[in-house]
Amino acid sequence: MKGVLIVNGFLNSDKYYDIYNLLVKAFKTRNVQLDIVKSSEISGKEDFSFTPDFVMFWDKDYYLADKLEREGLKLFNSASAMILCDNKILTYRELEKHGVLYPKTIVAPKTFENVGYTDLTFVEKAVERLGLPIVIKEAYGSFGAQVYLAETIEKAKEIAKKLAPKEFMFQQFISTSRGKDLRINVVGDKVKATVYRYNDNDFRSNITLGGNKQPYSPNDAQKQIAINAVKALGLDFAGVDVMFGENDTPIVCEVNSNPHFKSTLECTGIDLAELIAEYVIEKLC
Ligand SMILES: Nc1ncnc2c1ncn2[C@@H]1O[C@H](COP(=O)(O)OP(=O)(O)O)[C@@H](O)[C@H]1O
Ligand SMILES: [Mg+2]
Repeated sequence: MKGVLIVNGFLNSDKYYDIYNLLVKAFKTRNVQLDIVKSSEISGKEDFSFTPDFVMFWDKDYYLADKLEREGLKLFNSASAMILCDNKILTYRELEKHGVLYPKTIVAPKTFENVGYTDLTFVEKAVERLGLPIVIKEAYGSFGAQVYLAETIEKAKEIAKKLAPKEFMFQQFISTSRGKDLRINVVGDKVKATVYRYNDNDFRSNITLGGNKQPYSPNDAQKQIAINAVKALGLDFAGVDVMFGENDTPIVCEVNSNPHFKSTLECTGIDLAELIAEYVIEKLC
């Protein structure tokens, strides 16, 4: 059995290659060759040097993923699941459809380049409904970099104006989860490793922003919501961010289809690459 690991051709730091190398190693241990291929190298090419039995798709290039699926290749995660996760607005819509608890959310109205927002009444309405502080989150983003907290209506308006014409949403701030959440890693329909992330200096718990990490044993409700999110989005595996609502009610924050599982490995000693490889091979046999 042979597979390819498709990665983004422009993200070349160790942070990414650490993950790719863990995956290659995990498959190699199981006698499966996994070749790293940059998506930029194949975008104009019609095929690989061999027909892979499967594709570990670690890029976010939906068009390429879709093209490969149409050519009959089996992708992990699938193109449709990947796009639902990559765009946080689509994640929200899909989770809501499946009744998975998510913060109250309002999608910002569409505008266009060179037009922007000429009327900010929608910001006032969002604040009226969701309260202050209010979370403003871009549809596309990672490592907490595109997630903002506005303490005042003026600040919310300023952020909205600056973000146009990007897609973004307003979200109820889950104050009981300020600076802390869980990264619950699911493979198949099972929770495999959970990290409690906390940061006293930022409302975002991302490790990249200086968050701390600790191994954590999730309760049944926390496990169940992570599994439900993975099922709702049609994922094979994912890192689900779960917040602490009132009375510890779990609320999904976001779902990562290409989880950066190195910090999970450092924190828990659990190598998700091994568990993902095991799952993929079992699925294909
Ligand atoms: N609605 C919210 N209420 C409280 N905290 C939030 C909310 N949304 C996000 N956060 C915090 O911000 C962090 C980053 O948000 P997230 O949606 O996971 O984006 P990213 O993909 O950049 O990690 C989360 O881990 C969480 O700590
Ligand atoms: Mg996150």
